Amino acid sequence: MPPLEISPGVFILEVDGQKRLATRSDDSVPVYGERILEGYRLWDPFRSKLAALLLKGRSTRPVLARDARVLYLGAATGTTVSHVSDIVRDGLVYAVEYSPRSMRDLVRLCERRKNIVPILADAARPEEYAFLVEPVDLVYQDVAQRSQAEIASRNCARYLKPGGDLILMLKTRSVDVTASPEAVLRAETKNLQGLDLLQVMDLLPFHQDHFAMQASL
Ligand SMILES: C[S@@+](CC[C@H](N)C(=O)[O-])C[C@H]1O[C@@H](n2cnc3c(N)ncnc32)[C@H](O)[C@@H]1O
Repeated sequence: MPPLEISPGVFILEVDGQKRLATRSDDSVPVYGERILEGYRLWDPFRSKLAALLLKGRSTRPVLARDARVLYLGAATGTTVSHVSDIVRDGLVYAVEYSPRSMRDLVRLCERRKNIVPILADAARPEEYAFLVEPVDLVYQDVAQRSQAEIASRNCARYLKPGGDLILMLKTRSVDVTASPEAVLRAETKNLQGLDLLQVMDLLPFHQDHFAMQASL
């Protein structure tokens, strides 16, 4: 089966008889040990919530265009960022991470990829990176924090273009371990300020107690 493009820059390949998600890259060096087959980097939905969302939500609108600008909050060492960088080949990823240790690996990745801007900062203080970040088409957030919806709302108010999208990977246990995931989801939906909620999807079976919330400005 030839690779099937399910969303701009995102493909399904058949590998060893199994359907696998992948992005295309000119870089032949793996970023985190992933397999690369003829320029396609396999993307594991158990390691990346965005991969899980794309696999589960094939019919929803495309999340990333080739020339998109993305504000990525909670970049860690760059596992998912690297695939976003593949997808937005003519765009830019502003990758915010507050752990200096993770940032070291991320900076190494940025040396090989010119469309990622690493930013060592706290996503809860969006004003700190105002001197670097221009308006973006997508705010993507994956920070395991108590006030995830509030952090997302403040970043969207500041950086999201009108009509732009938010993808918030809500980790319910980080907000409240004692409440049910559904109760946390309801509360965090109310805390999303100034955005229209478009879709909510649980990320099972790939990620437990996680919801992907998609909203637009
Ligand atoms: C679940 S990991 C992100 C995984 C990454 N998105 C991926 O898929 O490759 C969450 C990351 O968010 C970072 N983080 C948590 N709170 C943050 C904050 N307020 N500002 C910036 N980074 C934060 C953590 O240090 C951690 O690296």
